[in-house]
Amino acid sequence: MCQAHPTTPVAGHTGGVTPELPDECCITVRHTGPLHGEVVVPGAKNSVLKLMAASLLADGAYELTNVPAIVDVSIMADLLRAIGVRVWLDEPGIVTIINTGKLTPVAPFELVERIRASINVLGPLLARCGHVRLSMPGGDDFGTRPIDMHIAGLEAMGATFRFGDDYVEAVAERLHGAEITFDFPSVGATENLVTAAVFAKGVTTIHNAAREPEIIDLCEFLVAMGAQIDGAGTSTLRIRGVERDQMHACEHETVPDRIQAATYIAACAVAGGELELLNAKPAHMQMALSRFSDMGMEFEQLPYGLRVTAPDRLRSADIATLPYPGIATDYKPVIIAMLSVAEGVAIVTENLYPGRFRYLDELVRLGADIRLDGHHAIVRGVPRLVGAQVVSHDIRAGAAMVVAGLAAEGTTTITGVHHIDRGYDDLVGRLSAVGADITRHEP
Ligand code: EPU
Repeated sequence: MCQAHPTTPVAGHTGGVTPELPDECCITVRHTGPLHGEVVVPGAKNSVLKLMAASLLADGAYELTNVPAIVDVSIMADLLRAIGVRVWLDEPGIVTIINTGKLTPVAPFELVERIRASINVLGPLLARCGHVRLSMPGGDDFGTRPIDMHIAGLEAMGATFRFGDDYVEAVAERLHGAEITFDFPSVGATENLVTAAVFAKGVTTIHNAAREPEIIDLCEFLVAMGAQIDGAGTSTLRIRGVERDQMHACEHETVPDRIQAATYIAACAVAGGELELLNAKPAHMQMALSRFSDMGMEFEQLPYGLRVTAPDRLRSADIATLPYPGIATDYKPVIIAMLSVAEGVAIVTENLYPGRFRYLDELVRLGADIRLDGHHAIVRGVPRLVGAQVVSHDIRAGAAMVVAGLAAEGTTTITGVHHIDRGYDDLVGRLSAVGADITRHEP
């Protein structure tokens, strides 16, 4: 369900005909610029959800701070509650969790199907309870997202799996250490194996592990709980199992969200102006910043974040998505929105999710000149897009529609807002505060 984030249209609204609004929650965006001011970058969705799942490992009272106000956090809270943990989201930016150890290691379908990160309870519950039953995880609409690497890794550590039509069950009295080499540095599989390995007997080594800042954040959280982990942020993770009574609850500040930060960079890029992104961590997005610089953006690292200055017009640059430290697939939709109005032609190659191009049709509806060729998108920049009604099919696609709307003459009306709410903490309010003509409408 959509939650209201009322915003006031900024002064200097260009006027014009406002189209009839659809009979559902929507966002309208009009071409505005330049943007000026400060945007506080919230904590990372793809970290906090994993931290919450990892709290299943040990009893006690946890406090997570810098938590984004997004729907996925509420869903993960409901999932933990269904398992037997007490969770409070009352204070802005804070999640309080009390794990009393009375856990039912079953993750029900109605919650699991709503977020991909529900798969992250698999490792902790198996390690903690010795068995787990999980409905098959849901997530975004960009193709099948198998969990074979999670399963193979846990099997190597001694788990036995049983598969039903729409669920998976795993059993392991006590997991043991293993040498595991991933074919691909999967984020979710790395997280599940690290959390499962903290109680395993002996040492678990994961080769070709994912290196994302959110993985480092999870490892730091686990170490603060008493786990023994070396190599966080490198492609070899070594986890020495500890006894259950060596792990305890802790407090932890969630790492800032590099994908939300990139979304505000993209907004500034197409609208023009200068933004200060408070809390942004340039070190976590070096490759993307370098490519944005190629496109004409200027950056200045500040003690408390990042200053972003847009050129008069962006230049095109080719982009290929890769696991970290490469350019994340999650940046790609907003980058394509930028390229849609850049000078020149760019080839964008998707190497992680071949199906993650569905939103291109929506950008084309706004006047973008994009041709799809296999897992490459050829984007020929046009001077200006034209507003239309478009649908957000997933979280990042929704953000791309908002960015594109800032570059479009007239009004862009975006439906499917519930996807944006899953991962963006008040995108409308934050953009409106720096001068964007953007409004959220409840039905
Ligand atoms: N893969 C397999 N088998 C596996 C695991 C992954 O084939 O067992 C494949 C996937 O199908 C995909 C690729 O490996 O083609 C990458 O998957 P990965 O496991 O790295 O991704 P994930 O953990 O499922 C997380 C984020 C995604 C983000 C990817 C890549 C969360 C909840 N999700 O997914 O974020 O795109 O890493 O960086 O952390 C989003 O936030 O909008 C989002 C989709």
